[in-house]
Amino acid sequence: MDVATTANLLQVLRDPTGVPSHPLIFQVLMVFTWIPHIVFVNLTLGSALLALVAFNRRNHPDWARLSEAMTKVAKVGVSLLVVLGVAPLLFTQTIYDPQWYASNVLSAAWVIGFIFTLIIGYLAWFTFYFKNHGEHAPNWAGWLGGFGLVMFLLDGFIMHVLAFQGLLPDQWASWFAPGGQVDMSGTGIHAWQAGRFGFYLAMSATVFGAFLMAYADYFAPRADRPAPYRAFVHQLGARVALAGALAQLGLLALWLLQVPASLGLWAHPMSWLLILYLGVLVALFWRLRASMTGAGYLVLALTVGMAALVAIFREVVRMAYLAPFSYDALDYKVIWDYPTFVMFLLTLLGVGGLMGGFIITTAYKAGRVSGVYEADVVVSRLATGSLASTIVWVVAFIGTGIWIWLRNN
Ligand code: HEM
Repeated sequence: MDVATTANLLQVLRDPTGVPSHPLIFQVLMVFTWIPHIVFVNLTLGSALLALVAFNRRNHPDWARLSEAMTKVAKVGVSLLVVLGVAPLLFTQTIYDPQWYASNVLSAAWVIGFIFTLIIGYLAWFTFYFKNHGEHAPNWAGWLGGFGLVMFLLDGFIMHVLAFQGLLPDQWASWFAPGGQVDMSGTGIHAWQAGRFGFYLAMSATVFGAFLMAYADYFAPRADRPAPYRAFVHQLGARVALAGALAQLGLLALWLLQVPASLGLWAHPMSWLLILYLGVLVALFWRLRASMTGAGYLVLALTVGMAALVAIFREVVRMAYLAPFSYDALDYKVIWDYPTFVMFLLTLLGVGGLMGGFIITTAYKAGRVSGVYEADVVVSRLATGSLASTIVWVVAFIGTGIWIWLRNN
């Protein structure tokens, strides 16, 4: 399809009712809500792989303990990556609806399969989690865990395909009707990029390596996590992170090489900022490669910072791909809906902030105590606040609905 027809198609596919507030708000929220999603994707893939590697060495107590711990991390990680994927999904669908829906329809069988493979993979992982205790855990449980990880990787690949196919609108028609024959099966995987997908896998090693270092530091007050075990985990983490950051640099170069040169991404400041940041991480992890304690929280924060740069870079890439078709998310039609917008912001800050703050603070404090944890004043105030804000939210949400319904009747 030629450029002008494609540009026209993209406009026609937009939602005619527009968006309820300025598109920049959705764009910023989309970029920033994707950061926690990808951080938990990275954490899950890294911890699942290490849980399996450690499982195969479980005749050594350190590896057996690490395998059990990482199986739990991956179990929690999957649930969080799914929940945290919802927010960027909503924002993508709002300002990039032509791209997202066209890509989903073109690979519909994979989109539906995504849900089932995620459920099956998670069930397999749970079975592994139930069975993975100590050196006598059965071998078959490891195979199930391996199957679970393969399913998670497949789901990540499907996500990548959906995101990437959306960037190539001039090819949609030829995918939909190859050689003029309409293909309604939705079974095709039409486009993907080894550099881009590989980059996210390498990023998993970096983020997860930093997490291991923070994990080792975090458990310092607990007698049931002896110092030699923590030192072993810390050093392993630094090496995994170093390998990951190096691989990221190589795969970022491949990613950039696979993007058409005409889009000018090599010259974009975000590309160089990311390369520079990764270079600093490589240097840091190189210095820390033999360290046995300390700096864990710092490196974890730095890798989250890297994820933020990646999130912005992804958006730069998307804008570059769509610019030739004159598609700019910022010129989306706006029909202001102030009450919805205010309700959304209050929900995010009130319920999200308080509830999120309560859960994170409780988990952080409780995990550092062996045995029963007694909540302190801060935690109990946060608990009361989050409960109160949830009640206010439910009343306001249902009340507004009833009020509008009564007004219209
Ligand atoms: C094991 C499961 C999953 C894995 C491994 C995974 C991994 C990924 C990866 C690697 C990307 C980046 C793709 C790219 O930029 O090329 C991505 C993007 C994304 N993921 Fe996930 N994901 C998973 C599940 C989910 C779920 C359940 C949701 C929604 C509830 C979700 C929502 C998103 C969204 C909205 C994007 C951005 C799409 C875009 O900007 O076009 N993901 N995911």
